[in-house]
Amino acid sequence: MERIALGVIGCGFFAQNHLHAWTDLRSKGVEIAAVCDVDESKARAAADKFGVKSWYKDAETMLKQEKLGLVDIVTRVETHRDVVSQAIRPRVPTIVQKPFGPDLAACRAMADEAQKAGVFLAVHENFRFQVPMRRIAELLRAGAIGTPSWARVSFRTGYDIYKGQPYLANEERFVLIDLGVHVLDLARVFLGEVEQLSAELQRRNPDVRGEDTATMLLRHKSGAVSIVECTYESRRLPDVFPETLLEIEGPKGAIVLKPGSVLDVTIAGKTTTHDVDAPVLNWAERPWHIIQESVVATCEHMLEALRAGRAADTAALDNVRTFTLVEAAYQAAAAGRAVRLA
Ligand SMILES: NC(=O)c1ccc[n+]([C@@H]2O[C@H](COP(=O)([O-])OP(=O)(O)OC[C@H]3O[C@@H](n4cnc5c(N)ncnc54)[C@H](O)[C@@H]3O)[C@@H](O)[C@H]2O)c1
Repeated sequence: MERIALGVIGCGFFAQNHLHAWTDLRSKGVEIAAVCDVDESKARAAADKFGVKSWYKDAETMLKQEKLGLVDIVTRVETHRDVVSQAIRPRVPTIVQKPFGPDLAACRAMADEAQKAGVFLAVHENFRFQVPMRRIAELLRAGAIGTPSWARVSFRTGYDIYKGQPYLANEERFVLIDLGVHVLDLARVFLGEVEQLSAELQRRNPDVRGEDTATMLLRHKSGAVSIVECTYESRRLPDVFPETLLEIEGPKGAIVLKPGSVLDVTIAGKTTTHDVDAPVLNWAERPWHIIQESVVATCEHMLEALRAGRAADTAALDNVRTFTLVEAAYQAAAAGRAVRLA
């Protein structure tokens, strides 16, 4: 198996999970060859902690000097357009963290650029790789409840996310871009593409700049309907951060993902309950373990897709579809009416 030399760009808060994940995946033939951060102290600290030979302050220099087989970009959204281009120009396969771009035009431009160059570009959209979501996808694929006709996808928390990511309080377009991308992606994965969407946005926390709560109603091309909601400003207890709760109904049964990663599957009037909590990896900590495990699963999926010469499930073009829903939600909320999608 040919070893893949990986470069990680951005060594901040969330990159720590990526660095652990790629270290765990060494047995799958990937090696962190270099790390890069414009903040020299972060690049140096990541190299020291994860035993990486080279560190850089500048991504272009890293891309010139290292022979990389894969780049993983874990910087914030406003940098993605430029850094993705820097990686694609020398034709290095690239993964970029969600949100893919600051707006739909930027996402499309990056997807086009990669397609024209024939370079692998995927978005690290990790929610669909969480343990419960993988199990639900399997059940749906097996036809356990028939074709889904109704669902609710819900992420509601009051967890202090501003502690680890203080910049979020200052985002003009906030919860839809940061969290809406995840829950809308799940709605697409489970119920298929969307033909109509309406949305209400609220800023319930007066200390943040953008909307922190989104409530959306989707009609899918299959005829299914879903309610997709997310907030960082809920006072409900227990606070299940960072769990997504789900209800999916079909003609033959229902699937309900409850707090504590408990999955109820009802088929023909009989309910079976499954524990679908993620394993707590040796570097993980509760309650982040659910997300942390999914980062490993996402990175592993990327590696498999790249080696197989196929697009990732969350390839750039796929994520453009998810981002189209985000943009539609902003439009629908501003216009006060449902938006039809092409
Ligand atoms: N998928 C998830 O579950 C999840 C969770 C949290 C954060 N994220 C995403 O991770 C990304 C990073 O967020 P974060 O909270 O770690 O931000 P952060 O600010 O802590 O880290 C970003 C790092 O990138 C560096 N950087 C900026 N521009 C650079 C450049 N051109 N070249 C090299 N380094 C550069 C910064 O110096 C900083 O250290 C965001 O897109 C965020 O949405 C994803």
